[in-house]
This record gives sequence, C-alpha cells and structure tokens, in this order.
Amino acid sequence: MSRRRKIYEGKAKVLFEGPEPGTLVQYFKDDATAFNNKKHGVITGKGVLNNRISEYLMMRLAEVGIPTHFVRRLNMREQLIKELEIIPIEVVIRNIAAGSFTKRFGMAEGTALPRSIVEYYYKNDELEDPMVSEEHVTAFGWATPQELDDILSLSLRVNDFLTGLFLGVGVRLIDFKIEFGRLYQDDQVRVVLADEISPDSCRLWDLKTNDKLDKDRFRRDLGGVAEAYQEIARRLGILLDTGPTDPKGSTTLQ
Ligand code: TMP
Ligand code: ASP
Repeated sequence: MSRRRKIYEGKAKVLFEGPEPGTLVQYFKDDATAFNNKKHGVITGKGVLNNRISEYLMMRLAEVGIPTHFVRRLNMREQLIKELEIIPIEVVIRNIAAGSFTKRFGMAEGTALPRSIVEYYYKNDELEDPMVSEEHVTAFGWATPQELDDILSLSLRVNDFLTGLFLGVGVRLIDFKIEFGRLYQDDQVRVVLADEISPDSCRLWDLKTNDKLDKDRFRRDLGGVAEAYQEIARRLGILLDTGPTDPKGSTTLQ
C-alpha cells in the first residue's frame, strides 16, 4: 500500500493524498461488506479486478461525454482521481427487480420494470443509508435542484450506455449504484461521476443462464465470488483469457 497520507478509509477503498493539488489516489481493497457492514469478508483479488473494471467503464463513459473523476490507473490497486466534494447521495438505477426492491414491493426477482427507475439514498452509515426523495435532497441542501437535474440526466445516460455495453458481452445490467461529486475548476462547479463502477456496485447476470456475476454471490454465500468478478473482467476484454477458475487468481495484463 502507498505511503501517502490517508484522507479517508471506506469499506472497500482507501483515499490518499494525490501527487499534485486537486488529485487523490484511490486504493481498492479486497475487503467486502454487505447489509450495512453486518457481513464482512475478503475476496482475494477483488481490489485488483475492481480497479481495472472501474477504470475501463469510467474511460468508456468519458468517451461518450460523461464527466468522471477518473484520471488514470497508477498500478494494480490504485488509480489517480480528481478531488471532488462528494454529494452525499447514492443513486440507484434499476432495470429489473432485484435486491431490496423485490422486498419493498413484493415482486419476484427478475421481473422487468416498466421503465428504468431511479432511487436516491442518503449516504449515512449510522442511519443505514435511508431511501430519500428529491424533496429531501433539495430541502436538506444535499444538492441543489439544478445539480439534481444533472444527476438524474447523467444517471440515465450512464444506464443507457452501460446497458448496451454489457449486453454486447452477454451480460444483463439489472441495477447499479453510482455517486457524484462537485468538481471545482476555473471558477466553475460541475457535477461529475465519482467513486467506482464494478461488480461490487452493480448486479450483472449472464444473459443466457441468469447466473449472478456480482457481489450478490458474496451477499448470499453462493460461492465463486472472485471467479464471477474475473468473468466480468474477461468479458470486457481486460483479463487474459485464462478462464474463470484460474487457481492463481487474477491474472491481469499490465
Ligand atoms: P439494493 O437492491 O440492495 O438496494 O441494491 C441496489 C444496487 O445498488 C445493487 O446493484 C447493489 C448496489 N448497492 C451498492 O453499491 N451499495 C450499497 O450500499 C447498496 C445497498 C447497494
Ligand atoms: N456496501 C454495503 C455495505 O457495506 C451494502 C451492500 O453493498 O450490500 O453494507
């Protein structure tokens, strides 16, 4: 791990001071948690895979005009990012019913939703990230109405693009969580995509078999967690094609 000054440590990542002002180093750990920290585990090689997968997805999103915090990958577990003021909202976009949504609405997992549904959760561990409405977000000043407009339209663009990208590699994007922050640059502020996009924060099902290729394998003790993350990386063309059961774990290209 880096010897730089630690700024913040989360459940799956650590942020360090960056090499120049306005930058941070984002380090990906192998630790996994679920159900608001009630379940803990280590998925060997996860950090390396998520660093690569998130790099790939953020770069592809940037190519289609989505502003992101990603600058470049530094090494196996670290990437350089722009320093943002994080907006304390988790944005969840759902295409197919799964997870907490099936419980809330008594719906069978796998039911296609009439359209993509966007939800907001207030990032607060003590309160276990409660779901909130747009009214809460603007009334409590977590984001301005203009910022919330930007968050919604960016989220739908991210969903459209990622849905197509994953379909192209035989994967259904069921739902995912993203975060945003404010980038202060040249006397301007804009909303940009932050955090990570990886099998930790997405539900990804094989198109043909509906096999789960994401963190639900950890949440539900299904086994083959690292192999599922590796399979996503392999399909995205990030890993050497060694197959999902390579005993050495993650065989990343440099
Ligand atoms: P949920 O069905 O548990 O509400 O999760 C919806 C999506 O958001 C799913 O793809 C997993 C992701 N997610 C996170 O990335 N972090 C979280 O803390 C939670 C609750 C969900
Ligand atoms: N990341 C969250 C936690 O640590 C929940 C989840 O992803 O299921 O509890």
